[in-house]
Amino acid sequence: MTEELNHGQTPATQGSRIDAYVDRYAARAAGMVASEIRALFAVASRPEVVSLAGGMPYVTALPLDMVGELVSDLVTRRGPVALQYGSGQGDLHLREQICEVMRLEGINAGANDVVVTVGSQQALDLMTRIFIDPGDVVLAEGPSYVGALGTFSAYQAKVVHIAMDDQGIVPESLAQTIYALETAGAPVKFLYTIPTFHNPAGVTLNIARRQQVLDICQRAGILIIEDNPYGLLGFDGEPMRALRADNTDGVVYLGSFSKTLAPGFRVGWALAPHAIRDKLVLAMESAVLSHSSFTQLAVGQYLATQPWREQIKSFRELYRERRDALLDALDALMPPEVTWTRPAGGFFVWATLPEGLDSKAILPRAVAERVAFVPGTGFFSDGSGSRHMRLSFCYPEPDRIREGVRRLASVIEQEMQLRDTFGTGSVFDRHGVDTPGPDLA
Ligand SMILES: Cc1ncc(COP(=O)(O)O)c(C=O)c1O
Repeated sequence: MTEELNHGQTPATQGSRIDAYVDRYAARAAGMVASEIRALFAVASRPEVVSLAGGMPYVTALPLDMVGELVSDLVTRRGPVALQYGSGQGDLHLREQICEVMRLEGINAGANDVVVTVGSQQALDLMTRIFIDPGDVVLAEGPSYVGALGTFSAYQAKVVHIAMDDQGIVPESLAQTIYALETAGAPVKFLYTIPTFHNPAGVTLNIARRQQVLDICQRAGILIIEDNPYGLLGFDGEPMRALRADNTDGVVYLGSFSKTLAPGFRVGWALAPHAIRDKLVLAMESAVLSHSSFTQLAVGQYLATQPWREQIKSFRELYRERRDALLDALDALMPPEVTWTRPAGGFFVWATLPEGLDSKAILPRAVAERVAFVPGTGFFSDGSGSRHMRLSFCYPEPDRIREGVRRLASVIEQEMQLRDTFGTGSVFDRHGVDTPGPDLA
């Protein structure tokens, strides 16, 4: 039977299981690739390993009793609404509250402009679904967020990376790339960017460049997707002004409560011009009918009754202490040939290894030495990035971060000695998007 279904081909295997439908998948399923480093990360989640890999917010810092009471009160008082289907656009009161949150970044919008989504990840999926046909071009910083690259790949988009430096996306590179693509007859569908406290690069687009990026895209008629889950987690001063604050029609803004409250609620949103908003609502309904009323009302209740600005402030302080622990340890312990970014907010530092070292090749040895990171190649769609690694400081306590850097520095030193003795070369030659999974996003 299986032989017949496979037209006589040898059945493909997944581990020990035979996939009888291997020749029946849609072509786009080929773009959904599990990471070959996932197995290593299973080991990396053991308690003896210091994980500088995961991007998980430190939810333990939330007053969990308060969350418990809030949820229980919600069911008791508003159960029939909270447990019912909701609207495709999301709860109106929550959308009003979201507008209040966005005002902190200079955005002036109404509830009618917002669509509530299952995390900002779903907003990314819906945006890609309504804009991308197979082969369409998407621009993204190089490196870029692994979850976005996975989504673009799943919809068979062609991602073209734009250079970035420690001030964010390089406007000249953006303009030149757009010109080259248009000249080659490959028009761009949108620019996907994380301007503030970038994942994974840890850098922020400076103010002058913000206007340049807006101008370049406006001139070229290119829509910007501004993905901003970390914008309120800055360590110094007031929040940056969002790109969307200065351009209403050319920017779709994606926000999330995952980092400022908790990812378990899975509440994010898209703020979009009305024509796009209408398509997003239809796409949302076709995907899930409506978002969970329960978690939307829980987040709404939290915002209405709890000091959420204070909570964000205390998250900022917690993450600032961990950022400092990571940067101080890197300064003190890393070989001078290694360089890294110095984030002013968010969760991530992006490190660059000396010439001839490959972060993916180093990972097994690092895990054996009980420290983990995410290799840089996962953050590029073209397999580049092998000299880079993402180090996250959001989850481990400061002492563990210091210990992790001590272990990592020693592994890198050993690798440099090996390189000096045997020359360069990598055992990994696969190209493509790695998807390390939600806990590592
Ligand atoms: C840049 C970026 N965008 C989007 C997301 C998705 O967040 P969520 O779906 O939890 O809102 C993440 C999560 O890590 C992220 O780092």
